[in-house]
Amino acid sequence: MSEASEPNDVVTMDKIVSLCRRRGFVFPSSEIYGGLGSAYDYGHYGVLAKNNVKARWMEAMTQERDDIVALDSTIILHPKVWEASGHLQSFSDPLIDCRYCKKRFRADDLEHCECGKKPSKHPGETSDCDLTEPRQFNLMFETTIGPVQESGSKVYLRPETAQGIFINFKNVSQLARRKPPFGIAQIGKSFRNEITPGNFLFRTREFEQMELEFFVPPDESAQWYEYWLEQRKSWYLRYGLRSSHLRLRPHSEDELSHYSSGTADVEYLFPIGWSELEGIANRGDYDLSRHTEFSGVKLEYVGQDGERYVPHVIEPSAGADRSLLAFLVDAYDEEEVAGRQRTLLRLHPQIAPVKAAILPLIGKNEEMVLKARSLYEELRLRFVVEYDDSGAIGRRYRRQDEIGTPWGVTIDDHTLEDDTVTIRDRDSLEQIRVAISQVGAHLAEQLAAPWKTPKGE
Ligand code: GLY
Repeated sequence: MSEASEPNDVVTMDKIVSLCRRRGFVFPSSEIYGGLGSAYDYGHYGVLAKNNVKARWMEAMTQERDDIVALDSTIILHPKVWEASGHLQSFSDPLIDCRYCKKRFRADDLEHCECGKKPSKHPGETSDCDLTEPRQFNLMFETTIGPVQESGSKVYLRPETAQGIFINFKNVSQLARRKPPFGIAQIGKSFRNEITPGNFLFRTREFEQMELEFFVPPDESAQWYEYWLEQRKSWYLRYGLRSSHLRLRPHSEDELSHYSSGTADVEYLFPIGWSELEGIANRGDYDLSRHTEFSGVKLEYVGQDGERYVPHVIEPSAGADRSLLAFLVDAYDEEEVAGRQRTLLRLHPQIAPVKAAILPLIGKNEEMVLKARSLYEELRLRFVVEYDDSGAIGRRYRRQDEIGTPWGVTIDDHTLEDDTVTIRDRDSLEQIRVAISQVGAHLAEQLAAPWKTPKGE
C-alpha cells in the first residue's frame, strides 16, 4: 500500500488497519477461510461508528430540513431498471488478460498494476507478458431470481442506490405531496465487481452509499448544484475533518458521466493521496426521462395550475465506508504524555462509537464498583457508555483513547466522601470534578456543543 502522508502527519493507512483490527472496529471478511480479499466485516466499535456517520447524514438530510424524505428500496430491482439507467450498456471497465500469468488488469490503469510474474514491472513490460486486447467487463454482479437457475430470470445486485429512488419518484411526490425542489434520501448497500479494489475500506466490492436525489425545476438546477456542493463540504467540516484535508474538485469534460452536465468530487487527503469521498452531479432530466421511456409511466411534475415539466436532478452521492475511513484517518494521533506514548482517535464526539467510559479507580474496591455500576446503569439509558473495572486505570484510559471515547468518568476516594467524580477529556487530558448527579446533563451538553479537532485546521 503506498503511503503519501504529509511529513508532519503521523497517520498511515497501515496504522489505521492495525488499530481497527486491534480494537475490533473492522476484521477481514471470511478470515478463517483465508479471507475474501478487499472485503471487511465491522466489529462492535466499527458498527457503532459507522452507524453514527449514517445517522448524522440522515439527520442533516431529513430531520434538519423539511424538503427531503427518506426511502429504503430493494437491492434487487427489475432488470429493466439497469437498461433504462444505462448501466447494462456502459457500466464497465476495459480489461486486459495476460495469457502467460493469467492475471487480469484494468487497461486504463496499467501503470498502477504489477506484472503477475515480476511485480517490479508493469503488465506488458517483460518478454513473457502476453496481453489480450482490452475487452469491456460489466461491473454489476449477476444472480437469478426464481426457484431454479435455468428458468429464473437474470437480475443484478444494485451498483448504486440512486435508481431505487428514481423509480419511486411518482410514489413519493404524490403520497408525500412534494413539489420540486424536494429530495429523496437513501442509505444502503451497493455492489460493484471491481477489478482493482483496495486501500482497506476505500474501495470494496460490497459497500454502503448515502445518496440524495434532489429534484428541482430545470431552470434552477445550476444554483441548486452550487448549493449542494457547499452543503456537503460543510457537513464533513462540521463533523471534524480538517479543512486543509478537504477540497472540492470539479470534473473535467472528459471525466463527466454520460448523464452529467457538471460533477464535482468532495475529496479527502488520505495517506494514499487526494481521493473521492463523495460525487455531486447535476444529472439533468436523464434519469426520469429514461425511466419514463422504458416503463411507459410518466415521471414528471404536474402542478395544480396545469404546469408540467420533468424535474432535473442534483445528486450528492457519498460512500459511508470511505467517510468513516476519512474520520478515522483524520482523528488518528500519537503523542507522548509524561514520558509515555499514547495513540488516540480524536473523533468528533457525535461520531465516536462510545461517548464515555465509567471507571472505578480501584476495580477491587466494592464501594467504588457499586457507585460506578449505578452511574453506568443510569447513563446507558441515554448514551452509549462502557463500564470497565479490569486492570490499572492508565491501561483502561489508553484503551478508551484508542477507541476514541471523548470522556472518562472516574469514581475515586472523593466520590465516596462527596459524590463527585472526575471527568477526563480525551484530547486535552484536563480533568474536572462534577457532581455524580450532573454527569448525564454534562455529557448531553458537551455532546451538543460545536466541536473542533485540536489537530488544527
Ligand atoms: N449514483 C452515483 C454513484 O453511485 O456513483
